[in-house]
Amino acid sequence: MIRVAILGASGYSALELMKLLLRHPGAEITALTTRQTDAKPVSEVHPSLSGRLDLRLENLSPGQVAERADCVFCCLPHGASAAAVAELLPRGKKVIDLSADYRLNDAAEYEKWYGVKHSDPERMPTTVYGLPEIYRERIQSASLVANPGCYPTSAILALAPLLRAGAILPSDIIIDSKSGVSGAGREAKSHLHFPECNESVSAYGVGKHRHMPEIDQVLTDVADAEVRVVFTPHLIPMDRGILSTCYAAPTGEFNEGSLLGVLKEFYANEPFVRVSSALPATKHVSGTNFCDITVRSVRGRVVVIGAIDNLVKGASGAAVQNFNLMHGFDETTALL
Ligand SMILES: NC(=O)c1ccc[n+]([C@@H]2O[C@H](COP(=O)([O-])OP(=O)(O)OC[C@H]3O[C@@H](n4cnc5c(N)ncnc54)[C@H](OP(=O)(O)O)[C@@H]3O)[C@@H](O)[C@H]2O)c1
Repeated sequence: MIRVAILGASGYSALELMKLLLRHPGAEITALTTRQTDAKPVSEVHPSLSGRLDLRLENLSPGQVAERADCVFCCLPHGASAAAVAELLPRGKKVIDLSADYRLNDAAEYEKWYGVKHSDPERMPTTVYGLPEIYRERIQSASLVANPGCYPTSAILALAPLLRAGAILPSDIIIDSKSGVSGAGREAKSHLHFPECNESVSAYGVGKHRHMPEIDQVLTDVADAEVRVVFTPHLIPMDRGILSTCYAAPTGEFNEGSLLGVLKEFYANEPFVRVSSALPATKHVSGTNFCDITVRSVRGRVVVIGAIDNLVKGASGAAVQNFNLMHGFDETTALL
């Protein structure tokens, strides 16, 4: 049995993680952390877990966490996560970091996009990016995995097979994404209050969203050619879900059938990517670890669309998939 700790346990991704891990036959949740000092029962912080997990959220140091756990999931904001990771790894713990702290390879890029200096830059170039469909073998032997961002998961999974096959140009990709409000976490922010975002759709972070360099980095690696996407996220008044519609220029003659064939072949053995001719919708993947993908040909352009649940395939489901790979469990354990 692998003893598991969750840092930042009061948040949304932590809640989803607990629900998944409670179904896992090889994992036992042994520690939950918070910055608060009053050690509330988890059922008070997350009433949906009432009767399912008898633990309190505690203000624990990384050293205390390391005594109680073999593997640690960091569900903290960026910055806070790197500080904890740097103390856990030397204690021999495996870590799955859901924050953005180790996704980018380059500390200067991180500083440029996140506006702060990285506290653990030496680990950045070698940390494995936790997208099993692309980096499965490296994840299996990793001690630290950088769990992908939610928007990047939807866009990378949609575009990677077409780039790898040389079917689309790396230089001319536009990604238009929509996310539910849980993508911003549980912390109260005025623009996320119900009257502010309900019955409204808005673009944000245009040209400067932090997931843009993450998408570039992974797709550049996949394509073996420089990829620089234009990525625009939108906030949608729903709880959860991401839909990414990606526009690309074909490299040559193509038709919908051949592109669908490329996607189907790439994901033929993947348990969590469903390629079909049907248009994806967030409702069809809600609460699941699936990414649904299709492709269309429109006036000479390739339009490839991916849908995920931001809290599952976009966060905690992917984290459990990585946990399974890192510990030799069947990859689908607790996820199907
Ligand atoms: N939401 C998503 O769809 C999603 C998807 C992919 C990745 N992520 C990433 O996963 C991480 C967690 O996201 P989330 O949505 O679960 O966030 P969240 O709901 O805001 O929860 C994060 C938790 O971390 C704790 N925390 C906040 N600031 C902290 C600080 N400065 N130092 C230490 N602890 C702090 C808080 O717990 P206490 O107040 O109890 O201490 C908070 O409940 C983030 O890095 C996020 O970018 C989120």
